[in-house]
Amino acid sequence: MTQKTPSTAGAQGGSRRAFLKGGLAAGGAVVAGSAAVAAEKSDPAITEPKDWSQFLGDGVDAHPYGMPSKFENGVVRRNVPWLTASPESSVNFTPLYKLEGIITPNGLCFERHHAGRAEVDPAQYRLMINGLVDKPMVFTLDDLKRFPRVNHIYFLECAANSGMEWRGAQLNGCQFTHGMVHNVMYTGVRLRDVLAEAGLKNNAKWLMPEGADAAGMNRSLPLEKGLDDCLIAHAMNGEALRPEQGYPVRLVVPGWEGNLWVKWLRRIEVGDAPWQAREETSKYTDLLGDGKARRFTWVMDCKSVITNPSPQAPLNHKTGFTVLSGLAWSGRGRISRVDVSIDGGKNWRTARIDGPSLPRSLHRFYYEFDWDGSPLLLQSRAIDTTGYVQPTKGELRKVRGTNSIYHNNGIQTWHVKANGEVENVEVS
Ligand code: MTE
Ligand code: CO
Repeated sequence: MTQKTPSTAGAQGGSRRAFLKGGLAAGGAVVAGSAAVAAEKSDPAITEPKDWSQFLGDGVDAHPYGMPSKFENGVVRRNVPWLTASPESSVNFTPLYKLEGIITPNGLCFERHHAGRAEVDPAQYRLMINGLVDKPMVFTLDDLKRFPRVNHIYFLECAANSGMEWRGAQLNGCQFTHGMVHNVMYTGVRLRDVLAEAGLKNNAKWLMPEGADAAGMNRSLPLEKGLDDCLIAHAMNGEALRPEQGYPVRLVVPGWEGNLWVKWLRRIEVGDAPWQAREETSKYTDLLGDGKARRFTWVMDCKSVITNPSPQAPLNHKTGFTVLSGLAWSGRGRISRVDVSIDGGKNWRTARIDGPSLPRSLHRFYYEFDWDGSPLLLQSRAIDTTGYVQPTKGELRKVRGTNSIYHNNGIQTWHVKANGEVENVEVS
Protein backbone atom coordinates (compact mmCIF):
# COMPACT_ATOMS: atom_id res chain seq x y z
CA MET A 1 0.00 0.00 0.00
CA THR A 2 2.28 2.74 -1.22
CA GLN A 3 -0.60 4.87 -2.41
CA LYS A 4 -0.53 8.44 -1.21
CA THR A 5 -3.54 10.39 -0.12
CA PRO A 6 -4.68 12.34 -3.17
CA SER A 7 -4.01 15.98 -2.36
CA THR A 8 -7.41 16.80 -3.83
CA ALA A 9 -9.19 14.70 -1.25
CA GLY A 10 -8.81 17.48 1.29
CA ALA A 11 -10.62 17.39 4.60
CA GLN A 12 -12.73 14.37 3.68
CA GLY A 13 -9.74 12.65 2.11
CA GLY A 14 -8.31 9.68 3.95
CA SER A 15 -4.90 8.09 3.97
CA ARG A 16 -5.14 4.47 2.97
CA ARG A 17 -1.96 3.67 4.84
CA ALA A 18 -3.19 5.30 8.01
CA PHE A 19 -6.48 3.50 7.63
CA LEU A 20 -4.87 0.08 7.23
CA LYS A 21 -2.71 0.60 10.28
CA GLY A 22 -5.73 1.61 12.29
CA GLY A 23 -7.76 -1.28 10.95
CA LEU A 24 -5.16 -3.90 11.81
CA ALA A 25 -4.35 -2.52 15.22
CA ALA A 26 -7.99 -2.33 16.18
CA GLY A 27 -8.83 -5.65 14.50
CA GLY A 28 -11.59 -3.72 12.74
CA ALA A 29 -14.18 -5.51 10.62
CA VAL A 30 -13.50 -3.77 7.35
CA VAL A 31 -11.16 -4.58 4.45
CA ALA A 32 -7.78 -5.34 6.06
CA GLY A 33 -9.50 -5.92 9.38
CA SER A 34 -11.69 -8.67 7.92
CA ALA A 35 -8.62 -10.65 6.81
CA ALA A 36 -7.21 -10.53 10.33
CA VAL A 37 -10.50 -11.69 11.85
CA ALA A 38 -10.93 -14.44 9.26
CA ALA A 39 -7.47 -15.84 10.00
CA GLU A 40 -8.28 -16.17 13.70
CA LYS A 41 -11.53 -18.02 12.91
CA SER A 42 -9.84 -20.39 10.44
CA ASP A 43 -11.35 -19.27 7.16
CA PRO A 44 -12.49 -22.20 4.93
CA ALA A 45 -11.58 -20.07 1.91
CA ILE A 46 -8.01 -20.64 3.05
CA THR A 47 -8.13 -24.01 4.83
CA GLU A 48 -10.47 -26.09 2.60
CA PRO A 49 -9.00 -27.67 -0.57
CA LYS A 50 -10.56 -26.26 -3.71
CA ASP A 51 -11.59 -28.14 -6.89
CA TRP A 52 -9.75 -25.67 -9.06
CA SER A 53 -6.51 -26.47 -7.29
CA GLN A 54 -6.94 -30.27 -7.39
CA PHE A 55 -8.29 -31.10 -10.84
CA LEU A 56 -7.25 -30.18 -14.34
CA GLY A 57 -9.25 -27.39 -15.86
CA ASP A 58 -10.77 -27.20 -19.33
CA GLY A 59 -8.20 -27.49 -22.08
CA VAL A 60 -7.60 -24.92 -24.75
CA ASP A 61 -10.42 -24.76 -27.29
CA ALA A 62 -13.08 -25.61 -24.70
CA HIS A 63 -14.29 -22.07 -25.42
CA PRO A 64 -13.20 -21.07 -28.92
CA TYR A 65 -14.82 -17.69 -28.35
CA GLY A 66 -14.04 -16.74 -24.75
CA MET A 67 -16.73 -15.59 -22.36
CA PRO A 68 -16.53 -13.95 -18.91
CA SER A 69 -16.32 -16.08 -15.76
CA LYS A 70 -19.62 -17.70 -14.81
CA PHE A 71 -19.39 -15.74 -11.56
CA GLU A 72 -19.87 -12.56 -13.61
CA ASN A 73 -23.08 -13.75 -15.26
CA GLY A 74 -25.10 -10.96 -13.63
CA VAL A 75 -23.14 -8.38 -15.59
CA VAL A 76 -25.51 -7.97 -18.51
CA ARG A 77 -27.47 -5.41 -20.47
CA ARG A 78 -30.91 -4.95 -18.98
CA ASN A 79 -34.09 -3.31 -20.19
CA VAL A 80 -37.03 -1.65 -18.47
CA PRO A 81 -40.02 -3.60 -19.84
CA TRP A 82 -42.64 -0.90 -19.21
CA LEU A 83 -40.67 1.72 -21.16
CA THR A 84 -41.58 0.42 -24.62
CA ALA A 85 -44.40 -1.53 -26.23
CA SER A 86 -42.23 -4.18 -27.93
CA PRO A 87 -38.64 -5.42 -27.66
CA GLU A 88 -38.11 -4.82 -31.40
CA SER A 89 -38.52 -1.07 -30.98
CA SER A 90 -36.80 -0.68 -27.66
CA VAL A 91 -33.60 -0.15 -25.75
CA ASN A 92 -31.51 -1.93 -23.16
CA PHE A 93 -28.83 -0.41 -20.99
CA THR A 94 -25.07 -0.76 -20.45
CA PRO A 95 -24.25 -2.01 -16.91
CA LEU A 96 -22.07 1.01 -16.13
CA TYR A 97 -21.83 0.15 -12.43
CA LYS A 98 -19.88 -3.02 -13.24
CA LEU A 99 -17.43 -1.56 -15.76
CA GLU A 100 -13.89 -0.31 -15.25
CA GLY A 101 -11.72 2.06 -17.26
CA ILE A 102 -13.19 3.70 -20.33
CA ILE A 103 -13.81 0.93 -22.92
CA THR A 104 -17.19 -0.81 -23.07
CA PRO A 105 -16.88 -4.53 -23.82
CA ASN A 106 -18.64 -5.38 -27.08
CA GLY A 107 -21.19 -7.71 -25.49
CA LEU A 108 -22.28 -5.04 -23.00
CA CYS A 109 -22.85 -2.08 -25.36
CA PHE A 110 -26.47 -0.97 -24.95
CA GLU A 111 -28.76 -1.68 -27.91
CA ARG A 112 -31.29 0.69 -29.40
CA HIS A 113 -33.27 -0.71 -32.31
CA HIS A 114 -36.27 0.73 -34.13
CA ALA A 115 -37.12 -2.54 -35.91
CA GLY A 116 -35.08 -5.21 -34.16
CA ARG A 117 -31.55 -6.39 -34.83
CA ALA A 118 -30.92 -6.88 -38.55
CA GLU A 119 -28.83 -9.93 -39.55
CA VAL A 120 -27.04 -8.71 -42.66
CA ASP A 121 -25.08 -11.21 -44.78
CA PRO A 122 -21.77 -9.48 -45.54
CA ALA A 123 -21.61 -11.12 -48.98
CA GLN A 124 -24.91 -9.39 -49.82
CA TYR A 125 -23.89 -6.12 -48.23
CA ARG A 126 -23.79 -3.04 -50.47
CA LEU A 127 -23.38 0.69 -49.73
CA MET A 128 -24.88 3.03 -52.32
CA ILE A 129 -23.90 6.71 -52.67
CA ASN A 130 -26.39 8.66 -54.79
CA GLY A 131 -27.99 12.08 -55.21
CA LEU A 132 -25.87 15.17 -55.83
CA VAL A 133 -22.73 13.29 -56.88
CA ASP A 134 -20.79 13.10 -60.13
CA LYS A 135 -21.04 9.29 -60.32
CA PRO A 136 -23.48 7.33 -58.16
CA MET A 137 -21.56 4.39 -56.73
CA VAL A 138 -22.11 1.06 -55.01
CA PHE A 139 -19.44 -0.42 -52.72
CA THR A 140 -19.07 -3.95 -51.37
CA LEU A 141 -17.62 -4.53 -47.90
CA ASP A 142 -14.25 -5.41 -49.48
CA ASP A 143 -14.34 -2.19 -51.52
CA LEU A 144 -14.81 -0.18 -48.33
CA LYS A 145 -11.89 -1.88 -46.61
CA ARG A 146 -9.60 -0.72 -49.44
CA PHE A 147 -9.87 2.90 -48.35
CA PRO A 148 -7.20 4.00 -45.82
CA ARG A 149 -8.27 2.80 -42.37
CA VAL A 150 -8.27 4.76 -39.11
CA ASN A 151 -8.83 3.90 -35.43
CA HIS A 152 -10.66 6.17 -32.98
CA ILE A 153 -12.24 5.80 -29.55
CA TYR A 154 -15.60 7.56 -29.29
CA PHE A 155 -18.59 7.49 -26.99
CA LEU A 156 -22.04 6.97 -28.45
CA GLU A 157 -24.86 8.37 -26.31
CA CYS A 158 -28.52 8.10 -27.24
CA ALA A 159 -30.21 11.51 -27.08
CA ALA A 160 -32.81 9.84 -24.82
CA ASN A 161 -30.23 8.87 -22.18
CA SER A 162 -31.54 10.12 -18.77
CA GLY A 163 -34.76 11.00 -20.60
CA MET A 164 -36.95 9.45 -17.89
CA GLU A 165 -35.45 11.80 -15.30
CA TRP A 166 -36.76 15.12 -16.69
CA ARG A 167 -39.65 15.36 -14.24
CA GLY A 168 -37.90 13.89 -11.22
CA ALA A 169 -35.76 11.03 -9.97
CA GLN A 170 -37.22 7.87 -11.40
CA LEU A 171 -35.03 4.88 -12.26
CA ASN A 172 -32.94 3.29 -9.53
CA GLY A 173 -29.55 2.56 -11.01
CA CYS A 174 -26.97 4.29 -13.19
CA GLN A 175 -27.47 1.44 -15.66
CA PHE A 176 -30.99 2.77 -16.25
CA THR A 177 -30.49 6.51 -15.73
CA HIS A 178 -27.23 6.77 -17.72
CA GLY A 179 -26.67 3.42 -19.48
CA MET A 180 -27.56 4.53 -23.01
CA VAL A 181 -23.90 5.25 -23.59
CA HIS A 182 -20.97 3.13 -24.70
CA ASN A 183 -17.37 3.84 -25.59
CA VAL A 184 -15.65 1.80 -28.25
CA MET A 185 -12.56 1.86 -30.44
CA TYR A 186 -13.81 1.91 -34.01
CA THR A 187 -11.87 0.85 -37.06
CA GLY A 188 -13.18 2.20 -40.29
CA VAL A 189 -12.63 4.52 -43.20
CA ARG A 190 -13.23 8.25 -43.47
CA LEU A 191 -16.61 9.17 -44.87
CA ARG A 192 -14.96 12.03 -46.79
CA ASP A 193 -12.73 9.60 -48.69
CA VAL A 194 -15.71 7.50 -49.77
CA LEU A 195 -17.71 10.60 -50.78
CA ALA A 196 -14.73 11.91 -52.76
CA GLU A 197 -14.79 8.72 -54.81
CA ALA A 198 -18.34 9.54 -55.94
CA GLY A 199 -17.51 13.27 -56.33
CA LEU A 200 -19.72 15.90 -54.67
CA LYS A 201 -21.67 18.39 -56.79
CA ASN A 202 -21.24 22.08 -55.94
CA ASN A 203 -24.71 22.38 -54.40
CA ALA A 204 -24.23 19.37 -52.07
CA LYS A 205 -24.98 20.44 -48.48
CA TRP A 206 -26.64 17.53 -46.68
CA LEU A 207 -26.29 13.78 -46.38
CA MET A 208 -28.97 11.24 -45.65
CA PRO A 209 -27.51 8.02 -44.24
CA GLU A 210 -30.03 5.17 -44.27
CA GLY A 211 -30.05 1.76 -42.56
CA ALA A 212 -30.81 -1.66 -44.07
CA ASP A 213 -33.00 -2.70 -41.11
CA ALA A 214 -36.77 -2.99 -41.48
CA ALA A 215 -37.05 0.58 -40.09
CA GLY A 216 -34.85 1.85 -42.92
CA MET A 217 -33.81 4.39 -40.33
CA ASN A 218 -32.54 7.64 -41.82
CA ARG A 219 -31.46 11.08 -40.68
CA SER A 220 -30.27 14.31 -42.30
CA LEU A 221 -26.63 15.03 -41.54
CA PRO A 222 -24.91 18.31 -42.49
CA LEU A 223 -22.25 17.64 -45.13
CA GLU A 224 -19.78 19.71 -43.11
CA LYS A 225 -19.89 17.19 -40.25
CA GLY A 226 -19.68 14.28 -42.69
CA LEU A 227 -16.51 15.72 -44.23
CA ASP A 228 -15.04 16.59 -40.84
CA ASP A 229 -14.71 13.47 -38.69
CA CYS A 230 -17.38 10.88 -39.56
CA LEU A 231 -16.31 7.29 -40.17
CA ILE A 232 -17.77 4.32 -41.95
CA ALA A 233 -16.82 1.66 -39.36
CA HIS A 234 -16.63 -2.09 -39.77
CA ALA A 235 -14.93 -3.03 -36.50
CA MET A 236 -15.30 -2.31 -32.79
CA ASN A 237 -12.69 -3.01 -30.13
CA GLY A 238 -10.64 -5.00 -32.58
CA GLU A 239 -13.28 -7.36 -34.00
CA ALA A 240 -16.06 -7.10 -36.56
CA LEU A 241 -19.02 -4.98 -35.44
CA ARG A 242 -21.57 -6.96 -33.47
CA PRO A 243 -24.95 -7.43 -35.23
CA GLU A 244 -26.53 -5.34 -32.46
CA GLN A 245 -24.20 -2.47 -33.34
CA GLY A 246 -24.80 -2.55 -37.11
CA TYR A 247 -22.76 -5.42 -38.61
CA PRO A 248 -21.22 -5.22 -41.09
CA VAL A 249 -21.05 -1.39 -41.28
CA ARG A 250 -22.27 1.58 -39.25
CA LEU A 251 -21.81 5.31 -39.44
CA VAL A 252 -19.77 6.93 -36.64
CA VAL A 253 -20.69 10.57 -35.93
CA PRO A 254 -18.32 11.63 -33.12
CA GLY A 255 -19.87 13.64 -30.28
CA TRP A 256 -23.34 13.72 -31.88
CA GLU A 257 -26.49 11.99 -30.71
CA GLY A 258 -26.60 8.23 -31.21
CA ASN A 259 -29.60 8.33 -33.53
CA LEU A 260 -27.37 9.72 -36.30
CA TRP A 261 -25.00 6.75 -36.06
CA VAL A 262 -26.95 4.74 -38.63
CA LYS A 263 -26.43 0.98 -38.25
CA TRP A 264 -26.47 -1.58 -41.10
CA LEU A 265 -25.64 1.44 -43.30
CA ARG A 266 -26.84 0.74 -46.86
CA ARG A 267 -27.16 4.13 -48.56
CA ILE A 268 -26.04 7.72 -48.30
CA GLU A 269 -27.96 10.21 -50.37
CA VAL A 270 -26.40 13.61 -51.03
CA GLY A 271 -28.79 16.57 -51.18
CA ASP A 272 -29.05 20.34 -50.81
CA ALA A 273 -31.58 20.46 -47.93
CA PRO A 274 -32.56 18.31 -44.93
CA TRP A 275 -35.13 15.59 -45.64
CA GLN A 276 -37.33 16.21 -42.55
CA ALA A 277 -37.32 12.49 -41.77
CA ARG A 278 -39.48 11.00 -39.03
CA GLU A 279 -36.54 10.85 -36.62
CA GLU A 280 -35.88 14.60 -36.90
CA THR A 281 -39.47 15.88 -36.79
CA SER A 282 -41.80 13.82 -34.60
CA LYS A 283 -38.81 12.34 -32.72
CA TYR A 284 -35.41 13.64 -31.59
CA THR A 285 -36.66 17.21 -31.19
CA ASP A 286 -36.81 18.91 -27.78
CA LEU A 287 -40.18 20.31 -26.73
CA LEU A 288 -39.59 23.41 -24.59
CA GLY A 289 -41.76 24.87 -21.83
CA ASP A 290 -43.49 27.30 -24.22
CA GLY A 291 -44.56 24.50 -26.58
CA LYS A 292 -41.94 25.30 -29.21
CA ALA A 293 -39.43 22.61 -30.11
CA ARG A 294 -35.68 22.81 -30.56
CA ARG A 295 -34.61 20.94 -33.69
CA PHE A 296 -31.36 19.52 -35.01
CA THR A 297 -29.80 19.47 -31.55
CA TRP A 298 -27.06 17.09 -32.55
CA VAL A 299 -24.20 17.64 -30.10
CA MET A 300 -24.20 15.71 -26.82
CA ASP A 301 -23.47 18.17 -24.03
CA CYS A 302 -20.92 17.60 -21.30
CA LYS A 303 -22.16 15.12 -18.69
CA SER A 304 -20.99 12.82 -15.91
CA VAL A 305 -22.28 10.20 -13.49
CA ILE A 306 -20.93 8.46 -10.42
CA THR A 307 -21.08 4.75 -11.24
CA ASN A 308 -19.83 3.50 -7.83
CA PRO A 309 -21.41 3.77 -5.37
CA SER A 310 -24.83 3.86 -7.03
CA PRO A 311 -28.17 2.11 -6.41
CA GLN A 312 -26.98 -1.19 -7.94
CA ALA A 313 -23.60 -0.88 -6.22
CA PRO A 314 -24.21 -0.08 -2.53
CA LEU A 315 -21.45 0.64 -0.01
CA ASN A 316 -21.03 -2.75 1.62
CA HIS A 317 -18.00 -1.94 3.73
CA LYS A 318 -19.93 0.45 5.98
CA THR A 319 -17.33 3.00 7.08
CA GLY A 320 -13.72 3.83 6.24
CA PHE A 321 -11.65 4.32 3.12
CA THR A 322 -14.01 4.54 0.16
CA VAL A 323 -13.30 4.59 -3.55
CA LEU A 324 -15.81 6.59 -5.56
CA SER A 325 -15.65 6.19 -9.32
CA GLY A 326 -17.47 7.54 -12.34
CA LEU A 327 -17.56 8.52 -15.99
CA ALA A 328 -17.55 11.90 -17.74
CA TRP A 329 -17.83 12.85 -21.40
CA SER A 330 -18.50 15.71 -23.79
CA GLY A 331 -19.48 15.87 -27.44
CA ARG A 332 -17.39 19.05 -27.74
CA GLY A 333 -13.97 17.74 -26.80
CA ARG A 334 -12.09 16.44 -23.79
CA ILE A 335 -13.05 16.63 -20.13
CA SER A 336 -10.78 19.13 -18.38
CA ARG A 337 -12.03 18.57 -14.81
CA VAL A 338 -14.57 16.65 -12.78
CA ASP A 339 -15.73 17.87 -9.37
CA VAL A 340 -17.34 15.64 -6.78
CA SER A 341 -19.60 16.61 -3.89
CA ILE A 342 -20.59 14.33 -1.02
CA ASP A 343 -23.00 16.85 0.52
CA GLY A 344 -25.45 17.49 -2.31
CA GLY A 345 -23.50 20.24 -4.06
CA LYS A 346 -22.60 22.48 -1.09
CA ASN A 347 -18.87 21.69 -1.24
CA TRP A 348 -16.92 20.48 -4.23
CA ARG A 349 -13.57 18.69 -4.53
CA THR A 350 -11.61 17.95 -7.68
CA ALA A 351 -11.73 14.30 -8.74
CA ARG A 352 -8.76 12.45 -10.19
CA ILE A 353 -9.08 11.56 -13.89
CA ASP A 354 -7.20 8.37 -14.70
CA GLY A 355 -6.64 6.73 -18.08
CA PRO A 356 -6.71 8.17 -21.60
CA SER A 357 -8.21 11.64 -21.99
CA LEU A 358 -9.43 11.68 -25.58
CA PRO A 359 -11.85 14.03 -27.33
CA ARG A 360 -15.44 12.75 -27.51
CA SER A 361 -14.55 9.71 -25.44
CA LEU A 362 -15.51 8.63 -21.93
CA HIS A 363 -13.16 9.71 -19.14
CA ARG A 364 -12.80 7.72 -15.90
CA PHE A 365 -12.60 9.63 -12.62
CA TYR A 366 -11.99 8.66 -9.00
CA TYR A 367 -12.42 10.35 -5.65
CA GLU A 368 -11.18 8.64 -2.51
CA PHE A 369 -12.36 9.61 0.97
CA ASP A 370 -12.94 8.31 4.48
CA TRP A 371 -16.63 7.63 4.99
CA ASP A 372 -17.74 8.26 8.56
CA GLY A 373 -20.95 6.28 8.03
CA SER A 374 -23.29 9.26 7.90
CA PRO A 375 -25.69 9.67 4.96
CA LEU A 376 -24.23 11.26 1.83
CA LEU A 377 -25.59 13.09 -1.22
CA LEU A 378 -23.14 12.24 -4.00
CA GLN A 379 -22.86 14.38 -7.11
CA SER A 380 -20.38 14.79 -9.94
CA ARG A 381 -20.00 17.83 -12.18
CA ALA A 382 -17.96 17.69 -15.39
CA ILE A 383 -16.29 20.59 -17.19
CA ASP A 384 -15.12 20.22 -20.78
CA THR A 385 -12.29 21.86 -22.71
CA THR A 386 -14.63 24.56 -24.04
CA GLY A 387 -15.18 25.68 -20.41
CA TYR A 388 -18.79 24.43 -20.37
CA VAL A 389 -19.89 23.32 -16.90
CA GLN A 390 -22.46 20.51 -16.51
CA PRO A 391 -25.64 22.16 -15.14
CA THR A 392 -27.79 21.16 -12.18
CA LYS A 393 -31.19 19.70 -13.03
CA GLY A 394 -32.76 22.93 -11.73
CA GLU A 395 -30.64 25.08 -14.04
CA LEU A 396 -31.48 22.84 -16.96
CA ARG A 397 -35.24 22.94 -16.30
CA LYS A 398 -35.18 26.75 -16.08
CA VAL A 399 -34.08 26.89 -19.70
CA ARG A 400 -35.63 23.73 -21.12
CA GLY A 401 -38.79 23.09 -19.07
CA THR A 402 -39.87 19.52 -18.35
CA ASN A 403 -41.54 18.52 -21.63
CA SER A 404 -38.32 17.16 -23.11
CA ILE A 405 -37.24 13.57 -23.47
CA TYR A 406 -33.85 14.16 -25.04
CA HIS A 407 -30.57 15.81 -24.03
CA ASN A 408 -30.84 15.66 -20.25
CA ASN A 409 -27.30 16.25 -18.99
CA GLY A 410 -28.20 17.51 -15.51
CA ILE A 411 -26.15 16.63 -12.43
CA GLN A 412 -27.21 13.29 -10.90
CA THR A 413 -27.60 12.87 -7.13
CA TRP A 414 -27.23 9.55 -5.27
CA HIS A 415 -28.36 9.36 -1.66
CA VAL A 416 -26.12 6.99 0.31
CA LYS A 417 -27.94 5.93 3.46
CA ALA A 418 -26.24 5.04 6.74
CA ASN A 419 -26.71 1.34 5.97
CA GLY A 420 -24.86 1.74 2.66
CA GLU A 421 -27.91 1.47 0.40
CA VAL A 422 -28.02 4.01 -2.41
CA GLU A 423 -31.03 5.69 -3.96
CA ASN A 424 -31.72 8.00 -6.91
CA VAL A 425 -32.85 11.37 -5.51
CA GLU A 426 -32.90 15.05 -6.35
CA VAL A 427 -31.80 17.99 -4.24
CA SER A 428 -33.35 21.38 -4.80
N1 MTE B 1 -29.65 2.64 -37.10
C1 MTE B 1 -30.60 1.85 -37.64
N2 MTE B 1 -30.45 1.45 -38.91
N3 MTE B 1 -31.69 1.49 -36.92
C2 MTE B 1 -31.87 1.91 -35.62
O1 MTE B 1 -32.85 1.53 -34.98
N4 MTE B 1 -30.99 3.31 -33.77
C3 MTE B 1 -30.26 4.55 -33.54
C4 MTE B 1 -28.83 4.44 -34.02
N5 MTE B 1 -28.76 3.87 -35.34
C5 MTE B 1 -30.88 2.76 -35.04
C6 MTE B 1 -29.75 3.09 -35.82
C7 MTE B 1 -30.26 5.02 -32.16
S1 MTE B 1 -31.62 5.89 -31.61
C8 MTE B 1 -29.16 4.92 -31.37
S2 MTE B 1 -29.10 5.61 -29.82
C9 MTE B 1 -27.98 4.15 -31.81
O2 MTE B 1 -28.13 3.61 -33.12
C10 MTE B 1 -27.75 3.01 -30.84
O3 MTE B 1 -26.61 2.30 -31.19
P1 MTE B 1 -26.28 0.92 -30.48
O4 MTE B 1 -27.49 0.02 -30.63
O5 MTE B 1 -25.05 0.42 -31.13
O6 MTE B 1 -26.04 1.24 -29.02
CO1 CO C 1 -30.98 6.76 -29.69
